[in-house]
This record gives sequence, structure tokens and C-alpha cells, in this order.
Amino acid sequence: HGTSKINPKGHLEIGGCDTIELKQTYGTPLYIMDEALIRQRCREYMEAFRASGLPFQVAYASKAFCVMAMCRLAEEEGLSLDVVSEGELYTALEAGFPAQRIHFHGNNKTPEELEMAIEANIGCFVVDNFVELAMLQALAAEKGATVNILLRVTPGVEAHTHEYISTGQTDSKFGFDIGNGSAFEAVEQASQSLNLRLLGLHSHIGSQIFEVEGFQMAVERVAAFSLQVKEKLNVIFKVINLGGGFGIRYTAEDAPLQVSEYVKAITDAVKSSFAGAYPQLPEIWVEPGRSIVGDAGTTLYTVGTSKNIPGVRKYVAVDGGMTDNPRPALYESKYEGMLANRALDAAEETVSIAGKCCESGDMLIWDLELPKVNSGDLLAVSCTGAYNYAMASNYNRIRRPAVVFVQNGQSDLVVKRETLQDITACDVIPERIAKQPS
Ligand code: LLP
Repeated sequence: HGTSKINPKGHLEIGGCDTIELKQTYGTPLYIMDEALIRQRCREYMEAFRASGLPFQVAYASKAFCVMAMCRLAEEEGLSLDVVSEGELYTALEAGFPAQRIHFHGNNKTPEELEMAIEANIGCFVVDNFVELAMLQALAAEKGATVNILLRVTPGVEAHTHEYISTGQTDSKFGFDIGNGSAFEAVEQASQSLNLRLLGLHSHIGSQIFEVEGFQMAVERVAAFSLQVKEKLNVIFKVINLGGGFGIRYTAEDAPLQVSEYVKAITDAVKSSFAGAYPQLPEIWVEPGRSIVGDAGTTLYTVGTSKNIPGVRKYVAVDGGMTDNPRPALYESKYEGMLANRALDAAEETVSIAGKCCESGDMLIWDLELPKVNSGDLLAVSCTGAYNYAMASNYNRIRRPAVVFVQNGQSDLVVKRETLQDITACDVIPERIAKQPS
């Protein structure tokens, strides 16, 4: 998919770059991002919304993959940006992302984070709870600022996805509940807060969702609530944000829809739920993360050791693992892999791909069909663009890999590989301990 293909040498090529050469230049493990595919996904969202005729913003959920080059790329494609921490906000600002197109999320933003965002004059705060509502009003007043907000609501929709990444149900740490009156109370409070400009509502029902029904139901509930608010409080929302969560294809088992189909389902639902009852249709915002960058990423590993247990299984170990991709261990996520240096060779054995961390759960792929694998072969694991680099760790003090963007036969480093010096950079040996005679 994307610009990936197998070249005449039998090597996997992405963005016109031979992965064997990428290994020689940058080493492994290496995250390779297909820039053209990221841009294509951005454009699919923008075009689908333009076709709807509704005013809109597409905010890239940077949590999926937040580095400065990606922020620039999102900006160039006309997207807004969703950040959830001072670190993501800092990254966006350092990259020169226009503050007015930044939306700040999170269920526990600290006072320092709110202050930093107010000072940067960002476009919108997505307020999650009453504590934050009061704190943001107080901080904005202190700084003589008026800030735009959305209220995050839980519409009571259960998306069919892994329970750790499903967020729209009532029993969730996020947002004001529509069903029990707390969302209504939040609207009342927010509309009376002098330094908060209430733009509308936000709802996010979960992640890696394949059906449109959950989104349609969320729109209906949010619309019903909006009409109630209009009736009782005479408050009219300018913006409805439906979050992210649009699924992608990791393996043949996954059957996501096209970006345009998700967008059409949402914009149609907005049109039918608000039309007539509302003076003018609200602006629609969404926050895709995974579906912008997920399938554009490939992780390249070098095969090291292997262990055959006759009649049971063959383990093949690579030079990364749960430190660069914790998703199989965390969510039992499935991935596909292939030998990048012998992509045309026929499958000959079934192996399971292990990482190099000191724990048995560090497995990337179970039962993968590959040509006879040797030490030194290159394994490419696809669809690693979202929540891989973003969730990478230094467990076992393993260095985080480099990230490159590839396009038109050119590769550009966007994140350097960590060095051993980086590994100890924040360590301090207290003098008391340093001084002890050995
Ligand atoms: N908006 C909000 C408020 C969110 O919480 C999220 C994701 C998104 C947008 C973007 O969702 P996406 O389009 O990427 O599905 N680490 C997990 C995914 C956690 C998603 C958290 N929130 C994973 O690796 O599957």
C-alpha cells in the first residue's frame, strides 16, 4: 500500500527508497514514514469535508505521532492540531505551528499547562471536568484573556473496540456526562464564565473503530442535547467536535471504511440531526490520529538470534520489540511482517517474532509465514506509524530508534536515534553516593 513496492532486486522499497540502503544509512530498528501517504490521508479528510459543504476543521491528533516535522507537515496540509500535554504543545510551538489552530485536550491539565497555553494564545481548550472549568476561568481572568472552549461530553455510546481505548461510555474518566445532568450544568457554568467563550461540544467515542453507527449515534445524542440547551438556556453551539477513532487496516482481519465514508456518515448525521432545529448548521471538527499516520509507518528490524523448539515453535528475535512497539503487549494488537531484503522469496516456515526485552510478553508477531530466516535478514513490520514511536520507551535502557520520512527516492531524518549518552543524560549520582570509597 502507499508507495511501498518490491524492486527488481527483491527488496522492499518505500517512497522510492530501498530499505536495504536505509538500513545502511540509518541502522535498525528504524521507523520509516511514507510521506506521500501521510499527505494523501490528510487530503482525503480535507476533500471529504469540503464535499460536505459544512464549515470544518480537521485537527491531527498529535498523540499518534508527535514530532516537529509531523507538525509542519500537518500545517502545510491545512490541518489543525490536537495536543494533550505541555510536551505536545511545546513540540507544536517549536515547529512554528500556528497557535490559533491548536486545540488542547486532556482530563488533567495542570495549572502550568493551562497558563502556557493561554500565554501562547491557542485556538481552543477542550474542557474535561468542573475542576478544570473553574481553574481555566480563574487563570484566564488573571491574565486578562478570554479563551475559546469546547466542553467534552460523554454521549453514552460504547464503540466496539478494545476496552482500554473506548471512551464514549458513561463510566469513563473523560468528560461531562450528558445523561446525568452534569453536561447541562457545565454548559450553564461555562456560559456564565466571563473569560470563557463557549464554542460548543466535543465527543470522542474511542479508537480503531470500523463502523459508522457509533459516530452517528454520538451525533444524534450530542444534537439532542444541543437542542435542549438551546431551548432551556438559549445557548447555541457554533462547533461540534466528534473526535477521532477512525480505524485502519493492520492485518487482513481488519475491515475499515474509507476516510470519505466516515466523514460522510458524520456530516450527513449532523445535517439531519441539526437541520431545521438550529439556526445554522454547526461547524464540524474531527481529530483523526491513527488514520493519518498509522499505515504510513513501517518499522525495519535486523534479525538476530533464533530458537527452534521442535514440534512447538520457532522464535526469531529482532533488534527491537516492545520498546519501539508496545501495542502487541498492551492490546494484543496484530501486525503483518515480511523480509525486506528477500521480499520475492517464497514462504517456507512459520516463525514467531520476538523482541529483545527481558520478558516473555515481548512478542511482536505470532505465527508469521516467512522464507527461511537467517541472522542478518531485515524484517519489515507494517502499519507502525501511529502509537509506536509515540509510545516507545527506554525499558531495559534500550535506545529509541530513529525516524525517517521517505518520498520520491529521498530520505530525511526527522528524529535522530538516541545515543548511549542520551540514555544517562538525566541520571544524577548524589555526591553522598559518589564519594563513597569503592
Ligand atoms: N481525540 C481524542 C480526544 C482522543 O482521545 C484520541 C485518541 C484521538 C482524538 C485520536 O484517536 P485516533 O484517531 O488516533 O484513533 N494508544 C492506543 C490509542 C489511544 C487513543 C487515545 N485517544 C493505541 O495504540 O491503540
